[in-house]
Amino acid sequence: MSIPIYTYDAVIVGAGLAGCAAALELQKAGKKVAVITKLHPLRSHSGAAQGGINAAFSEADSVELHEFDTVKGSDYLADQDVVEFMCKNAPETVRWIERMGAAFSRTDDGKIAQRPFGGQSSPRACFAKDRTGLTLLQTIYEQANRHGVTFWDEWYAADLLYEDGKVYGVAAYDIRNSERAIFNAKSVMFATGGYARAFKINSNAHANTGDGLSLVARHGLPLEDMEFVQFHPSGLSGNGVLISEAARGEGGRLLNSEGERFMERYAPNALELASRDVVARAIIQEIREGRGVGPRKDAVYIDLVHLGKEKIMERLPELRDLAITFLGLDMIKEPILISATAHYSMGGIPCDVDGHVRKNNTEFVEGFYAAGECSCVSVHGANRLGANSVLEALLFGRFVGKSMVNDIDGIELRKATQADADAMNKEIDWVLSNNGTEKVALLRNELQQSMTDNAGVFRTEETLIKQVAIMKELQARYKNIRIEDKSKIFNTELQEAIEFGHMLDYSLFIVESALARKESRGAHFREDFTARDDENFLKHTMAYMDKDGKIKLDYMDVILGKHELKARSY
Ligand code: FUM
Repeated sequence: MSIPIYTYDAVIVGAGLAGCAAALELQKAGKKVAVITKLHPLRSHSGAAQGGINAAFSEADSVELHEFDTVKGSDYLADQDVVEFMCKNAPETVRWIERMGAAFSRTDDGKIAQRPFGGQSSPRACFAKDRTGLTLLQTIYEQANRHGVTFWDEWYAADLLYEDGKVYGVAAYDIRNSERAIFNAKSVMFATGGYARAFKINSNAHANTGDGLSLVARHGLPLEDMEFVQFHPSGLSGNGVLISEAARGEGGRLLNSEGERFMERYAPNALELASRDVVARAIIQEIREGRGVGPRKDAVYIDLVHLGKEKIMERLPELRDLAITFLGLDMIKEPILISATAHYSMGGIPCDVDGHVRKNNTEFVEGFYAAGECSCVSVHGANRLGANSVLEALLFGRFVGKSMVNDIDGIELRKATQADADAMNKEIDWVLSNNGTEKVALLRNELQQSMTDNAGVFRTEETLIKQVAIMKELQARYKNIRIEDKSKIFNTELQEAIEFGHMLDYSLFIVESALARKESRGAHFREDFTARDDENFLKHTMAYMDKDGKIKLDYMDVILGKHELKARSY
């Protein structure tokens, strides 16, 4: 039976800040654009960003300081030309979304309020209470609708149409009824978000299963810097739900079981506002050395009581609700329990500043773009600073949309055929008919627990080799799955099985890239190689998956600039 083929100028996969911003630009330029998203757009994970969006506005701040903080935060792995581009365009990007209606919190004299975040030389995070991402997402989605962008909500992009260095669409199915379709386009943008669900304790939505990365990798295209996964210092104890860095920005203090403000030992100047990698390691170190708190002694306290009720209710109301809901602790009255949580992926689909996706170190794929967390434009290097991700998503989403507008007329549409749905059909039919004995939920749990244990905040050659072996075993067991739901209506068991295949793919990239990087840099900390090694590892990892699922590694130069390499301390 033939399936429909829909034709567009541009197809965007993912409807978070990056996807919506790009769609808006394309639509405003009169291009025919479709956004395919496995969620309703307002459930995209951009909406979970709480604390802020960086822009150097204040007199005490400058674009150059923003650049410096970002490069230092990245442990010098960020490409400095891209950092300059982002920091320079940050103030205008915030003004752009503000003019479209984003309701930021204000200072007494009416300016956009800014709070300090980790690794910043000056308070730089513009915020809307502790709901910044949601405020921005609602604004951009509203504008995209107002301008007539077509959203294909609850459609799952199951394959990328790619041949001979050119992308020409995606194959997708409707989650509501399993109907399949091909979306044929001159250009495709992936804005599919992050993938911290590979770890047991994480701050990510259930949807963050790294589908886009795996679809790219399955076509032999590279993924960059996958070893750099950020562990946010403050996830709620036990479930990892994000307690924004805003809590520390507003004055929250971290305490161990001895009541000691332990960051004094790890980052004597910045204390709780050192960069995330530094604070997350300090927390885990305290717990490892027996100074943890809580029923399992696997947490530390964040104490906000001294801020007082008024400030907490004005600045951190969502965080208070989260701690009450999940832990039964009211931060107005008592300290709450937190620990490090897998949060953000610095690595991803390699692309240049205009969003063009790399085929390798020197060539690009025609008609293919990426932006937001799934991409690696190398602006965060080895460790992202808080409030730079919302900025990255919005800013690069918008500029990549513009770059697509510029390129589209020069791209010839490669016509899709029914055969372009073959890989999707094969995968769906295999999941539905495979009659093995393994349950996806159990395999996923084993993947997540083992990734946390062996490829988490602290890593060694031994734990990473162990994890490679576990991954191989999980891959073999995945071939032996069986799902019980064979129906066509909202078959979430089918979807989760496909998503788990993606999680297995990209997790192997994380582990193999981490194993090969025999140094510690940013969020990648090797207990067997504790120092940064600029001589051998000041380079980006470019990893490829071959037809047998093996990972091959290559490296690419880092673009250096005016911010010279220095030892990093806070
Ligand atoms: O802590 C937070 O509010 C998270 C923000 C971010 O990841 O940039």
